[in-house]
Amino acid sequence: MTLDEQKQAAARESLRFLRDGMVVGLGTGSTATYAVRLIGERVRAGLKIRGIPSSIQTQQLAQELGIPLTNFDECQQIDLSIDGADEFDPQLHLIKGGGGAMLREKIVASATEKFVIVADSTKQVAMLGKFPVPVEVIPFAQALVAKEIAALGASVKMRLDKSGNKYVTDEKNHILDCTFGKIPDPVALSAQLKSIPGIVEHGLFVDMADVVLLATDAGVQEIRKPK
Ligand code: 5RP
Repeated sequence: MTLDEQKQAAARESLRFLRDGMVVGLGTGSTATYAVRLIGERVRAGLKIRGIPSSIQTQQLAQELGIPLTNFDECQQIDLSIDGADEFDPQLHLIKGGGGAMLREKIVASATEKFVIVADSTKQVAMLGKFPVPVEVIPFAQALVAKEIAALGASVKMRLDKSGNKYVTDEKNHILDCTFGKIPDPVALSAQLKSIPGIVEHGLFVDMADVVLLATDAGVQEIRKPK
């Protein structure tokens, strides 16, 4: 299977968690997009759900597909969220935010009863850290925050968009991509990052995922969070 076929296979498998009446968190990124498209097909075939998108991009896609949407003003509890990840470890801790949406993604995940990750075979790691940890920072504080994170031992890069300008998130912030090397204690690093003023959110998702649907050439494997 190509990576794209793996992403599609994982997305297809996630549909079995859907039930009529659910509020569903809609993820962001190429794998989550496959899931959103498939959910759109189910909706057109009669499935009754309401979605809460995790980015403006996903919101636009869901609207095009005719998926009814709701928001946190109307509803503060999500039954199921389906999203991708950049890395997951054996504890199902994640790095997310390669697509720049981790702030809204984490808010959606935090309100979710069952958080399902759809992943191709490149996303599984023994220890997080191959992928940089994206850190969303308010523009006013970016240089100060970059210095503080570098003092923790990371190499820090400002994310740029395709035109070479500073990347701007849905919430009008910037992203610092922070390479720490191996992250043996994501719980501690998550707390350290959260304590720096000017950081709005970061891409370490600690203890949030319930299930990873991992697609490999052998098929799609369901990995549950260890007890
Ligand atoms: C977006 C994300 C994505 O879920 C993550 O980057 C994985 O993306 P893809 O499915 O395209 O590999 O966190 O902010």
